[in-house]
Amino acid sequence: MKKILIGNWKMQLTPREGVRLAEAVSKGAARAAAKIEIAVCPSHTALALVRTKLKRVGLGAQDAFWAERGAFTGEVGLAELKELSVEHVIVGHSERRALGESNEVAHATLHALVVQGFTPVLCVGESDADCKAGRCHAVVERELRAALRGVKPKPNQKIVIAYEPLWAIGTGRACDPVAAKKAIDHARRIAVEILGAAWAKKNLRVVYGGSVSVKNAAGYAAFASIDGALVGGGSLKAAEFLKIAAVLAKR
Ligand code: PGA
Repeated sequence: MKKILIGNWKMQLTPREGVRLAEAVSKGAARAAAKIEIAVCPSHTALALVRTKLKRVGLGAQDAFWAERGAFTGEVGLAELKELSVEHVIVGHSERRALGESNEVAHATLHALVVQGFTPVLCVGESDADCKAGRCHAVVERELRAALRGVKPKPNQKIVIAYEPLWAIGTGRACDPVAAKKAIDHARRIAVEILGAAWAKKNLRVVYGGSVSVKNAAGYAAFASIDGALVGGGSLKAAEFLKIAAVLAKR
């Protein structure tokens, strides 16, 4: 499977700014997109506009509600996202967990996304305190088991797991690539146990996220078992994002 680079624009851009970034990323993406998969996740308000500008770059959403549609004021349902050709949906990002999103919500969302055929990008990762206490792999395992429990992917259903240590997100303190690889290998073992080896071989990617930049991307790209990156700050300027894409595409 190709490596994947996913840009998470968070709440950093207005729709108009998103359109400009989408145009610039699309313009420069041809070479890297031949080797790796690239996707961007704008805010919900920008999805419809950004979608019209993307070429060779997939569209993702930063979150979704677990129902297709219904009386859920303020939420964004899966029927809306499907109509906008959204393919990837980030689930359980730590910035959402910090606002109160539970493992149960991550599980319900992931389940619904799989039923509807979206590609979930499930984020897991330990806090600074857990890291210092040596509980990194335990936290990753707990979050994965909670989210993936009972999930039965169809033969072609794709899932991306992003190992994102909380202390590395938006801090400039990227995780050492060897430690990231170990956590990623652990995450893959758990996912394979739950979802099945034959399915995982064709459909599962486990990527790293947390202060990925053009300076450190090669360290992650060097490991065959790190299937790509989820990038926040480094996705907000087309030139930087495309350079990261070029680094991943070289491997
Ligand atoms: P960052 O964010 O690259 O800015 O650290 C990553 C993320 O939150 O997905």
